[in-house]
Amino acid sequence: MATFAEKSFDSNNYNQNRPKYPRSLYEALFEYHDGGKHTAIDIGCGPGTASFQLLQYVDNVIATDPSNTMVTTGLKSITPDVKDRIRFEVAYAEDLHQVVPQDGSVDLIVSAEALHWVDHPKFFKEASRILRSGGTLAYWAYINPRFVDHPKATEIFDKYEFDDPRYLKTYWSQPGKGICTNFYNDIKVPTELFTDIEKHDYIPGETKTHTAFFLGDEKFTLKKLRANITTWSATHKWREQHAGEDCEDIVDLLINELKDTLGWDDDTEVTMEYGTTYVFVRKP
Ligand SMILES: C[S@@+](CC[C@H](N)C(=O)[O-])C[C@H]1O[C@@H](n2cnc3c(N)ncnc32)[C@H](O)[C@@H]1O
Repeated sequence: MATFAEKSFDSNNYNQNRPKYPRSLYEALFEYHDGGKHTAIDIGCGPGTASFQLLQYVDNVIATDPSNTMVTTGLKSITPDVKDRIRFEVAYAEDLHQVVPQDGSVDLIVSAEALHWVDHPKFFKEASRILRSGGTLAYWAYINPRFVDHPKATEIFDKYEFDDPRYLKTYWSQPGKGICTNFYNDIKVPTELFTDIEKHDYIPGETKTHTAFFLGDEKFTLKKLRANITTWSATHKWREQHAGEDCEDIVDLLINELKDTLGWDDDTEVTMEYGTTYVFVRKP
């Protein structure tokens, strides 16, 4: 996904304003994981969102991403206490030979909010190559934030994010965006390479109980929403294409419509939940 790799993409802003992952997700992962805990690799690591969290559970983490900008931000976040346990590498998911030359040498592969951007058949083959027998491949995504109790706000949000071609709909790269909004159901795990497939979805308003991967905020504000939207690849693309034009910024348009329709201000607190999905599979 090329936008995240552009020099002008603000990966510091991404680092500050994207969600981190809950402890319960890692607990579920390490309950499932039956292999070693020496080396984990994070695929499409961005600024190291999951990579740094993984250090609580494994000895060493290799954080990989094709975006130099993301990797540079990740490198800046390394603190002296973990510097010997984490390394960042620029690499695509589909070819990890430079990073992991030895077959079967990784205990755990993780990919957070990134697998929708990769070529799945190539990635699964590569994942199977680098993973030790009995090792785990885990990937997850968060999808479509919902304003609980405010369906009108959700409707306006969806209009700007992907429903209406006048806004961000055409600025998302496909098929990645569609794969994500379809809760990763289009990603087919090759059963000749992996076994014990588990997939857990949380669909706000539909799924009765939370899964191990719950991302929500009871004090969500338009200020937080604004900060989050500025991290989207589609927003970055929209702003590049409209640079210098005398038109209202896409983020202001959305926030102002929410304010005008709902009567909210920047600090009005509302409950927001993401849809989520996580998948765990094992190499036999
Ligand atoms: C939405 S960000 C997720 C970053 C981070 N994992 C997180 O949880 O916040 C998606 C990342 O996938 C990376 N990416 C895009 N295409 C990729 C590919 N073919 N292989 C590996 N990573 C890729 C992007 O550079 C970007 O950093």
